[in-house]
Amino acid sequence: MNKVKVGIVGLGRLGKQHAENIAFRIPNAELTAVCSIVEKEIAEVQKNWGIKYGYTDYDEMLENKELDAIFISSPSSFHCEQIEKALKAEFHVFSEKPLGLYLNEAEKVAKVVNECRDKQVFMLGFMRRYDKSYVYAKEKIEEGAIGKPILIRCYGLDPTSAIGSFLKFAKNNYSGGLFLDMAIHDLDLARWYLGSEAERVWAIGDSYEYPEFKEINDAETGVALVKFKNGAMGIFVADRNCAHGYHIETEIIGTRGTLRIGTIPEKNLVTVFDHTGAIRECSEGFLERFEQAYLSEVEEFINCIIEKSQPKVTVEDGVNSTALAYACKESFETGKLITL
Ligand code: NAI
Repeated sequence: MNKVKVGIVGLGRLGKQHAENIAFRIPNAELTAVCSIVEKEIAEVQKNWGIKYGYTDYDEMLENKELDAIFISSPSSFHCEQIEKALKAEFHVFSEKPLGLYLNEAEKVAKVVNECRDKQVFMLGFMRRYDKSYVYAKEKIEEGAIGKPILIRCYGLDPTSAIGSFLKFAKNNYSGGLFLDMAIHDLDLARWYLGSEAERVWAIGDSYEYPEFKEINDAETGVALVKFKNGAMGIFVADRNCAHGYHIETEIIGTRGTLRIGTIPEKNLVTVFDHTGAIRECSEGFLERFEQAYLSEVEEFINCIIEKSQPKVTVEDGVNSTALAYACKESFETGKLITL
């Protein structure tokens, strides 16, 4: 196969970065088409990067049979419908997380993915599974370095500096809220590291500094406590108002040791010494912290298409993570303990 020709839908906060990676950093891929409802975004990318096709209508892009693959980075409420349409039009498909905002739509699209499995690649954007530190921790667990993992503690904290852009994103399109939009990465990691599915969930949350979150029926800060089927426990903290930066930290406690990833969310290896002391600056956002992972996941997608194989992240990971995140949301909204 020559270069894999990709059409991307969504050129927003993350989509534009994916588009740039596909266009310039993946040797076996070519960014052939871009689609967005905002004409200015299309015009800018087409002009600056020389992209052949631009569409404001997703269905029209699917009629372009020059394309091999569709890359979905549109708002979450469109994922299931756009995945299904692209698969039925016989394209390979990458979709950003979450797979769906409701369990029934996620299960429905999973059926379509599995029907197309022999001929088409499907991949979901759980990029943390491609981050070098997270991969290293997984290898350590598999080697038995910490014994049997019994507790996972996850912090997913978005920087206060990004609250404006987040609220714009959340008000433009329903994102699913704190647990489905944000904690889902940690919930998926927990399933991956523990090798087990969730059994029971209790979640709480509130808005403290920014009442806007309450106005959109969401939480600024939330916590979920999860019991897994293999007996392991999980504590998940998700927050949109982290003063020091973008703090993604994961701790896996085992019977014979502990792993911690990202305990100090350092921007780089530089320490700044000045009149306030010795400062390790923090990473400021997901594009900075997961730069390598966003690239590696797309490499995997393109390689799978070329090698006719399927990626390690499966559609079932999407379904089960959505089920767990949705249970957290339900518990937060009703105050009840939810059994999955
Ligand atoms: P955004 O709101 O910044 O951008 C959305 C883009 O989709 C815009 O270009 C908009 O014009 C376009 N769009 C909206 N409706 C459309 C439609 N009907 N047809 C075609 N284009 C349409 O959103 P953002 O932050 O880039 O998020 C996109 C997706 O990526 C979301 O599902 C989000 O959950 C996910 N995401 C994943 C992250 C990760 O770490 N894996 C980080 C940030 C976002």
